[in-house]
Amino acid sequence: MPSVYQLLPTTDGGKPDEQLTRKIKREKIKKILFHVLAVSAIMVIAAQGLRAFIRSSERFLQYGGKGCHGMQRNLSSLPSHYSLPSGDKIPSVALGCWKSSPGEVGQAVKAALNAGYRHIDDAWIYGNEKEVGKAIKDSGVPRDQLFITSKLWNSFHAPEDIEPALDESLKALDTEYVDMYLIHWPIAWKKDENVLDKELTANPYPTWQKLEELVDKGKIRNIGISNFNIARVKNLTGNALKYQPAVNQVELNFFNPQPELLKWSKDNGILLEAYSPLGSNDNVKKALSVPEVQEIATELGITPAQVVISWHVQRGTIVLPKSVTPSRIEENLHVFKLPDDLFEKLENASVSHPPQRTLNPSKSWNLGFDVFDEKWPF
Ligand SMILES: NC(=O)c1ccc[n+]([C@@H]2O[C@H](COP(=O)([O-])OP(=O)(O)OC[C@H]3O[C@@H](n4cnc5c(N)ncnc54)[C@H](OP(=O)(O)O)[C@@H]3O)[C@@H](O)[C@H]2O)c1
Repeated sequence: MPSVYQLLPTTDGGKPDEQLTRKIKREKIKKILFHVLAVSAIMVIAAQGLRAFIRSSERFLQYGGKGCHGMQRNLSSLPSHYSLPSGDKIPSVALGCWKSSPGEVGQAVKAALNAGYRHIDDAWIYGNEKEVGKAIKDSGVPRDQLFITSKLWNSFHAPEDIEPALDESLKALDTEYVDMYLIHWPIAWKKDENVLDKELTANPYPTWQKLEELVDKGKIRNIGISNFNIARVKNLTGNALKYQPAVNQVELNFFNPQPELLKWSKDNGILLEAYSPLGSNDNVKKALSVPEVQEIATELGITPAQVVISWHVQRGTIVLPKSVTPSRIEENLHVFKLPDDLFEKLENASVSHPPQRTLNPSKSWNLGFDVFDEKWPF
C-alpha cells in the first residue's frame, strides 16, 4: 500500500511539495496531541469520579448505611473493643440491664445478641440475672464470644460472703465464670442489716483480696470497681494489689461528663465504663434534645442517641446504654467517629454547665456523707 507521502502532489522534479508535507506532519502531530489530551482528560475525569464514588460510599456506610453492625464497625475508626490488663478484649458497647423488668429483659438480651451485641452489663441487685442467663443460653451464642459483667452488692463485701454471692450470680446467669465482676459501690453494709460497715468501707482491701483469689480460682476473669471517685480509687490502689482494677464503672453523660476523672483514669490505666450514658430514664429526653446533639445528628444523618453513644466511645470509654425496645437496641449499637470539630463541639457543650448527677443514693442510704465527696469521710 502506498504511504501517504507517495500520494502527495509533487513539484516539478517529481519531489513531494515540502510545504505541504510539513503542513500534513503538523496536522498529524496536532491530531496525536489531541488524542493524548482527550484520553488524559477522560482518565482524570474517571479517577475523580471513582474518588467521589469511594468517598460517598464511605460516608454512606459510615453515617447513612443500614448495613449490619459488623460492616459499619469495620469501616468506622472507633474501637469496637478495648484491651484489658488480662489481655481480654472488652466490647466498647454493652447492653445495660438495670430497670429492665422481668418479662422484658430476656427479650431485650435476645434482641441485643441478635443485633450483634456481645457485652451484657448486669448485677446481682438488678434481680434479673436468671432471665438474662436463660436468654443468653437460648440465643446459642457461644460463651467464649460473650463478655458478661456482674456486680458484688454492698451487703456482701465481707470476704466470707463474696464467693457465695458470686456463686448465686453464676448460677442465675448459668455460666461457669463472669468476664468482669465489679464492686458495685465503695460502700460496705453489714450483712442483713443494711447499715454501714465503716471498717470495710474505709478499707476495701480485704474485699479486693478475696476477689483476686476468685480470679485465680477461675470464677472471674477480670475485676473492677464502680462508683469510685479518685480518692476512693487511690485508697484501694494504695495497697499492694495483685490485680489492678481493670475498669471503673461510673455515671457519665452530657449532664455529668466528669472530664477530670476521665483524664485521671486514662493517666492511671483504668478504663471507664459510662453508665446512664443517655441520662437514664428521667433525663434521656432532655439529653437527646440538647441543641448540639440535635445539630450533629442532622449534619451526619444519624440519630441523637447515636451521636451521644458515639461521643462516649470517642472519649475512650465503654458505654452501657439500656433499652428494652428492639429498634433502639439495634440503633444504639451503631457508633461512628464524629468529625473532630463536631466531637469538640459536643465535648465543650457538655463541660460548659455545672455538673449534675443523675444518681446519688447517699441520702436514701442514710450514709451521713456524700459517697462522691472527694474528701475522705473516715
Ligand atoms: N454501676 C452502677 O451503679 C450503675 C448505675 C446505673 C446504671 N448502670 C448500668 O448502666 C446501664 C444504663 O444506664 P441507665 O439504665 O441508667 O440509663 P440510660 O441507658 O442512660 O437510659 C435508659 C433510658 O433510655 C431509653 N433509651 C435507650 N435507647 C434509646 C434511644 N435510642 N432513643 C431514645 N431513648 C432510648 C430507654 O428506654 P427503653 O428501655 O424504653 O427503650 C431508657 O428509658 C444500666 O442499665 C446498668 O447496666 C450501672
